[in-house]
Amino acid sequence: MAEFKMDADHPGIAMDRGVQGVLGVGLDRSEGALKVSGTARYGYEHRVEGDVAYGYLITAPAAKGTVTGFDADAARALPGVIDVMLDDPRIPRQAAAFGPAHAGNDAIDHWDQVVGVAIAESFEAARAAAKAVVVHVEREQGQFDTMANIAHANPPPRDSRLQDVAKGDIDAAMAAAHAAGGVTIDQVYTTPNQVHAAMEPHASVAVWDGDQLTLHSSLQILAVAKPMLAKAIGITADKVRILSPYIGGGFGSKMLGPEAVLAAIAAQKIGRPVKIAMARAQLFHNIYRRTDTNQRIRLAADKDGKLLGLAHDSVVSQCPDGGFMEPVALGSLALYDAPVRQFTHKVVTLDMVMAGAVRAPGEAVGTLALETAIDEIAEALGRDPIDFRKLNEPAVDPLTGAPFSTRALVECLDQGAEAFGWAKRSPTPGQRREGEWLIGMGVAAAVRINLLVDSEARVTLKPDGRALVETDMTDIGTGTYTILAQIAGEALGLPMESIDVVLGDTDLPPGAGSGGSFGAASAGSSVALACEDVVAVLAERMDAKPEDMTLKDGHAVAGNRRVPLGDLVGAEALVGKGKISQGSNAKTFSQAAHGAQFAEVAVNVVTGETRVRRMLGVFEAGRILNAKLARSQAIGGMIWGIGYALMEDAVLDQRYGQFVNHDLGEYHIPAHADVPPLDVLFIEKIDRHANPIGVKGLGELSISGAGAAVTNAIYNACGVRARDFPLTLDKVL
Ligand code: MOS
Repeated sequence: MAEFKMDADHPGIAMDRGVQGVLGVGLDRSEGALKVSGTARYGYEHRVEGDVAYGYLITAPAAKGTVTGFDADAARALPGVIDVMLDDPRIPRQAAAFGPAHAGNDAIDHWDQVVGVAIAESFEAARAAAKAVVVHVEREQGQFDTMANIAHANPPPRDSRLQDVAKGDIDAAMAAAHAAGGVTIDQVYTTPNQVHAAMEPHASVAVWDGDQLTLHSSLQILAVAKPMLAKAIGITADKVRILSPYIGGGFGSKMLGPEAVLAAIAAQKIGRPVKIAMARAQLFHNIYRRTDTNQRIRLAADKDGKLLGLAHDSVVSQCPDGGFMEPVALGSLALYDAPVRQFTHKVVTLDMVMAGAVRAPGEAVGTLALETAIDEIAEALGRDPIDFRKLNEPAVDPLTGAPFSTRALVECLDQGAEAFGWAKRSPTPGQRREGEWLIGMGVAAAVRINLLVDSEARVTLKPDGRALVETDMTDIGTGTYTILAQIAGEALGLPMESIDVVLGDTDLPPGAGSGGSFGAASAGSSVALACEDVVAVLAERMDAKPEDMTLKDGHAVAGNRRVPLGDLVGAEALVGKGKISQGSNAKTFSQAAHGAQFAEVAVNVVTGETRVRRMLGVFEAGRILNAKLARSQAIGGMIWGIGYALMEDAVLDQRYGQFVNHDLGEYHIPAHADVPPLDVLFIEKIDRHANPIGVKGLGELSISGAGAAVTNAIYNACGVRARDFPLTLDKVL
C-alpha cells in the first residue's frame, strides 16, 4: 500500500511526471451521457430482484410534545396496504437520531417528525395509507425563535470544531481607532434558516439476503453512512453493503436519511425489498437545516486604512444535543490582518430539526456578514474596497503565525478587477442610471479552509492494458468519475478510454466521500498513490527507475525500449493500493483556498427588484484537475451566492415551528432567468503542502463571498446596505 508523508525532498509522484496530457484538460464528465439519457439510476430508481414494496413516511403534526396514540385501522384496511409500522423502537424520531438517540420514545422534538411508515404494493397506496393514519399528540409550546433568545445563548459544546478566540481587547482597539482619527464599524447581520433543497429527494431501496442488508441509496459519504445505518437498525457494520453510484445533489444533506433506516426495518419485517422516497415537505422538516445566524461584526481601522481590530461574534441555533455547530467565523479567522482579533460562538437551543452542514458550513453565511462589513468600513474610510483588502492582506496566518501554503487573494482581486472592468465603477452610490434602473458593482473575497481526510483506492492494470480504478468514493455530481480517470491516466500513461472507474460501493476500498470540499484532494491522492505501486512494478520490469521511465499512450518507454503496458503486466493483473491519511498534510502551513467575487447589478427604483447582470469569480484552489468541471463547480457556488443574497429564506411560523414555504415553489432559489452570464478564472498554484496531488478544496470556495459581492453591488447601485439577509425587494425600497 503506497502511503505518503508531505516532505520537501520527495522526488514527486508519477502523476507529476506524466506526459499523457489528460490532467487538467476540460474533458466532459464520463457519466454525462448516462445522466442525460436517464440511464444512470438514482436512489429511487434502482431495480432489484424480488417483489418490491413501497413505503411512505408517517409524520407527527406538532413540533413539541408527546405522541399519545395512533388510529391506523382505516389505513391498514385500504387496498394494497401491506403494513403500517408505528411501534418499532428503531424508528428514528429525530433526523439527528443517528447522533443523539431519540429513537424509541414518544417525545416529539420537531415539526413533522417521522413516527412510522406505511408499506404498500404501490407508491400511491402507501401514500394514501400514511395520510390515513391519525397521529394523536399532546402539544407543548415549543421555542423556535433564535433572535428572541439571544440573551439565553450558550457557549458551544466543548468538542465544537471552532473554539472561541480572543487576542487583545476589541473595545480598546475600537477606542484607539477613534482616538487616532480612524473609523469603526459595529453592526449586526442576520441570515435565515436555509435548506439544501437537492433536486433528488432522499431515497433508498433496501434488500435483505438472510442477515445481509444491501441498501441502494443516494449518499455522500459511505464510510459515515454504513456504521450509522448498522447502529440504527441494530446489526453489525459487516452485514451492511451500501451502493450509491449517482447522487442527485446533496450539499451536505445526504449523509443518512430516516427513509434508509425505515426501508431496512420494513424490508426485514415483510421479507420483501422496500423502497422509500421522502416527500419534499418531509425533507424541509426532517433533514437538517442550516441554522439561522446573528452575527455582530466590529472593525476598527486607523485613518490610513489599516485594521487595528476585527471581532466576529455569532449566535446560531440547534436542537438539544445537536452536536454540530455552524462555524460562522471560520472564514474570518485568517482573511485579514489585524493585531486584535476576537471570534466567539454561541448557540440557542430550539425545538426544531437539527441544524447541520450545508454547502460551505461557516464561510457561506459568515462571509455574507464579514464581506459586507469590510465594504462598509472601506466606504467609511473613503477607500476602494479592493485597495482596502490589499492593504490588510496578512503575510502569515494572523492567528497562528504559520506561513500560508499557497495564497493568491491579492492576485485574484487584481486579475478580477482588470477582467471585470472595476475601474469603471463609481465609488459613490447612485451615480449610474439607465432609465428606472440604478447600476452598481460590488466585490468580495472568498475563502474556504482546506481539508484532507482518510481515503483508500485500488488501481488494477490488466493484461489487456486497461486500468480499473476502484474506491467507495462518491460522485455527488461534481465529476469524480472523470477526475479520478484523469489522475490515473496521467500517472499510468493511458488515454481516457482505457480507464474504468467504479465508485460508490462499500465493498470497495473506503474512500473520502463527497463533502467539505475534501473529496477531490483526498480520493484523488489515494488514486495517485495506488498508481505509484503499479508504476514501481512496471519500472522494475523495464529495468529502470520510475523517474527514468516514461508512460504514454499505453506504452512504457525507458532507454531505447518501448513496450506495451499489457506485455509488461503479463498474465496476472497488477494491483496497486493507495492510502492518504487525514494527518499527512503539512500542519506547519496554513491552508485555505481563496478567491475574489465580482458582481454587477441593476436595481429598479420603482419596484426594488434586483437583477444580477454579470458576475466574475477568480479563484485559487491549488491544482485544477479538470478545467471544465472546476468551472462548473465555481458557477454552482456563485449561483448559491445569488440565492443567499436575494432569495433563500425558510420562513418559520413561530406559532407551530413549521417552515411555511416547505417546497421549491415557495422556497426561492435562483432559476435560469435569475442567473446572468457567469465568468470564472482560475489562478493555478500547485499546493505542495496540501496533499500529494497539490489540489485544494474548490467546491465550497465559490459560494463564499458570492452573496456579499451581489449585495455590495446593490449598495453601490442605490445606497441600500444589506444587513438582514436575504435582501428582498421590500427591504431595498
Ligand atoms: Mo458538505 S456541507 O460538507 O457536503
